[in-house]
Amino acid sequence: MKVLVIGAGGREHALAWKLTGSPQVQMVYVAPGNAGIALDKNLQVLPLTEVVALREWAQANDIGLTVVGPEAPLAAGVVDEFRAHGLRIFGPTQAAAQLESSKAFSKAFMQRHHIPTAAYQVFEDPAAAHAYVDAQGAPIVVKADGLAAGKGVVVATTLQEAHAAIDHMLAPDQTGIQHAGGKARVVIEEFLDGEEASFMVVARGLQATALATSQDHKRLLDADLGPNTGGMGAYSPAPLVTPEIHARVMREVIQPTLKGMMADGIPYSGFLYAGLMISPSGEIKVLEFNCRMGDPETQPILMRLKSDLLPLLLAATDDTGADLTQVDLEWDRRVALGVVMAAHGYPHTVRKGDAIHGLPVVDTDASAMVFHAATQREGQQVLTSGGRVLCVTALGDTVRQAQTVAYALVDQIHFDGAQVRRDIGHRALKR
Ligand code: AMP
Ligand code: GLY
Repeated sequence: MKVLVIGAGGREHALAWKLTGSPQVQMVYVAPGNAGIALDKNLQVLPLTEVVALREWAQANDIGLTVVGPEAPLAAGVVDEFRAHGLRIFGPTQAAAQLESSKAFSKAFMQRHHIPTAAYQVFEDPAAAHAYVDAQGAPIVVKADGLAAGKGVVVATTLQEAHAAIDHMLAPDQTGIQHAGGKARVVIEEFLDGEEASFMVVARGLQATALATSQDHKRLLDADLGPNTGGMGAYSPAPLVTPEIHARVMREVIQPTLKGMMADGIPYSGFLYAGLMISPSGEIKVLEFNCRMGDPETQPILMRLKSDLLPLLLAATDDTGADLTQVDLEWDRRVALGVVMAAHGYPHTVRKGDAIHGLPVVDTDASAMVFHAATQREGQQVLTSGGRVLCVTALGDTVRQAQTVAYALVDQIHFDGAQVRRDIGHRALKR
């Protein structure tokens, strides 16, 4: 079978790498891909990003399955377009992808279906938003209603920060946010205390198979300081998610979500990612839904997946009644840990074009991998081309061992302005 992966980041590099390991897969194409994907002789990149062009290419080239990595093509309706032409594609429809693309939609959905989440209100009017924040006090969380590439959330510890976030997100000339429904809105919500975990499933209708748990590191700097980013590193499994919490997440979050989507007439299929906050007393609340896998969580998760990924995705796109919950997944017992190397300026104004030195030749035993994200080739040189450049991911018997291997590899790679957190996995070490 020929498989197409849509996207250009580290998550897509990992998905494509994993799919090439399937005996049923003849070739994996990645559109548009990146320099690391282009350098891998088992993968082929395509310079396509537009939904109709992708669909036409998939039709003309006999693609048996398409897997969508990022949220933007999902929100643009790539699944609807492929399905309308009889093509097999794994991901939610545009309507279902609103679970991620609109915070206002997902908060209202959670409230309607009694899925635990932080108390909140939605505002279009800056004056009303400012007044609400003054009445509630800090800490408080301000979220843009729309896709903002992981940068639409401000956890404000002071009222001043909250007011500035409202002014920024509701500014009439705001260009960094793709407003849901074309309207500038903010969701203002209660600050939740606790520890976060990323919980992902492969879903179709009412069925779901959980993937391994993981934990992301959203802040730019060590000790979880500095601005929020798309994620500076991740590891799997997350020891915070005990078997008991795992069972409760399935029961209290995943199943009601799939039932709710079905009841609302927009059945969900695709990866479903619940970003959870687990309080010190064990209360579970949903911070956000993503309608895709996490980046960088995918990189360590897929390094731990021993089973073939293809049969699971085929079962999840099968219309003849295959039972997803019957697909057994085998996980490596080791810890996988991924460290992101980000470009100068990230997550603000990113500098591009820095030459990357010391990239290793791809490791064939796959105990360490350098997944590429924002990289591009210029002649024989690989250059940075965006915010998160690489995700160096390693397996180890313990968190410490995985850290040792990953950081040893990070230290061999160099580009000017590289930003790296040195403490990925720190919470697991404290347990
Ligand atoms: P989101 O995109 O909604 O997951 O928000 C990004 C990050 O902001 C989360 O991963 C949390 O670290 C933080 N965050 C979001 N909402 C809250 C909240 N209500 N309380 C505390 N932290 C939050
Ligand atoms: N790493 C968090 C996300 O993918 O949304």
